[in-house]
Amino acid sequence: MKNNISVTRKEHFNCAHRLHNPNWSDEKNTSFYGKCNNPNYHGHNYNLEVTITGALNEESGYLIDMKLLSDIIKEEILNPFDHKNLNLDVEDFKNLNPTAENMAIVMYNKLKNRLDNHFEIKIKLYETERNSVIYPA
Ligand code: NI
Repeated sequence: MKNNISVTRKEHFNCAHRLHNPNWSDEKNTSFYGKCNNPNYHGHNYNLEVTITGALNEESGYLIDMKLLSDIIKEEILNPFDHKNLNLDVEDFKNLNPTAENMAIVMYNKLKNRLDNHFEIKIKLYETERNSVIYPA
């Protein structure tokens, strides 16, 4: 594609969660998820990178207005997730295990609904400094 380019917006937020599969026994949940299955939840400091790819708008010199991207991320992800308990406070995870993988997919779908179709979206979510997920792969 002509003048295809990517821009990335970094964000940070905190939330609590518990990893649990209701179809498994308590023993299996504990042995599989370990501390992440703690019934009273635990928190992470998440770092998020949203990368948008598409054709450069030659008239503006922008791919996308970063203020607009920032506002959309704030509305769709930061406001609903930051300082929340994902299992209890966020509708998307009422019946979905809030792993970093599932969180990245939920975030992708939320942004996809708000951005022009010609933009490709990539989510990179760091649950810790060392562990991150990318969606789509
Ligand atoms: Ni965790």
